[in-house]
Amino acid sequence: EKNGYDHFMLKEIHEQPDAIKDTYRGRLLLNDGIIKMAGIEDNIERLTSAQRIIIVACGTSWHAGLVAEYIFEDLIRIPVEVEYASEFRYRNPVITPNDVVIAISQSGETADTLAAIKLAKEKGAFVFGVCNVVGSSIARETHAGAYTHAGPEIGVASTKAFTTQITVLSLIALKLAQFKGMLSASQLREYIAEMEAIPAKVEECLKVDAHVKYISSMYKDSPNFLYLGRGYNFPVALEGALKLKEISYIHAEGYPAAEMKHGPIALIDEHMPVVVIATKRGHYEKVLSNIQEIKSRKAKIIAVVTKGDTEVREMADHVIEVPETLEGLTPLITTIPLQLLSYHIAVMRECNVDQPRNLAKSVTVE
Ligand code: F6R
Repeated sequence: EKNGYDHFMLKEIHEQPDAIKDTYRGRLLLNDGIIKMAGIEDNIERLTSAQRIIIVACGTSWHAGLVAEYIFEDLIRIPVEVEYASEFRYRNPVITPNDVVIAISQSGETADTLAAIKLAKEKGAFVFGVCNVVGSSIARETHAGAYTHAGPEIGVASTKAFTTQITVLSLIALKLAQFKGMLSASQLREYIAEMEAIPAKVEECLKVDAHVKYISSMYKDSPNFLYLGRGYNFPVALEGALKLKEISYIHAEGYPAAEMKHGPIALIDEHMPVVVIATKRGHYEKVLSNIQEIKSRKAKIIAVVTKGDTEVREMADHVIEVPETLEGLTPLITTIPLQLLSYHIAVMRECNVDQPRNLAKSVTVE
């Protein structure tokens, strides 16, 4: 059932082009410039009149929520807050009937996320679920929702669930933007066309595998890693670090690149590998100067760059090239090499990739 792959995680990484396609199939109509999503259409007034969107989730799903914050605020101009479900539910949060809560969960069974939903409903908010497992508790407990259609995810470390969550959240934002008249027909068409180009681009990203494997062999014994990104790639940095921690047991931290100088830069010396996401669209010049700062402290730089980049190449120890896309869809692309990096490092360290110690696929206890 691993389909010839050594691990479920690797299989699921490679399934992403199809999983993303399955997620938007039937929902994107390029020729008409239309997005069809019943759960959104049936509640369109309620959703577009929200004064605030609160996203609740845990772990990797929380990272998808952070990406959604950027997309939603960019496209529909509704303020978004992203909350760890466990903090939200115990904080006596301010929730009103004018709020829309979006709960994101692969399994649909995460106890804290489920409890956060119940609390939000009690306070009168409208709750929308983004789940992968059909008929799961969270899918049933929410007022409406949209499934990710990623297919079963067996590896404990979440991969295709993450990229399909981002896909579905992008569609939701586009649908709402379309309804609110916030995108011109041509902008919408461009977005849809680019979304349809994503599976092939993810496929292209997967081709960096041998190169990433080589990089992995050089740094597999490092006790620490830093991951840096800005804007849409900041959550990707967090997710890259989480993936490495959970399956290879290497300590890793993700930071917004500009936060470096407020503390973490003190950690940097010639032994520290720093993974920097430095793609062309989105604060490229700023990231370049962040790379310079790290370089002058002799860190080892592993940079994820847009195909054909020359400037980063001059400074970085290793570059991993990925295809260009719209800034808002970048996380779907830049995440892929980071998944592969953590996978190869974990395998080289002889870790149990699919079932890392101390972790369970769904966390049904608080
Ligand atoms: C990370 C991972 C966990 C889950 C988290 C939430 O790879 O798998 O961090 O993302 O436990 O799980 P769901 O999405 O099922 O609510």
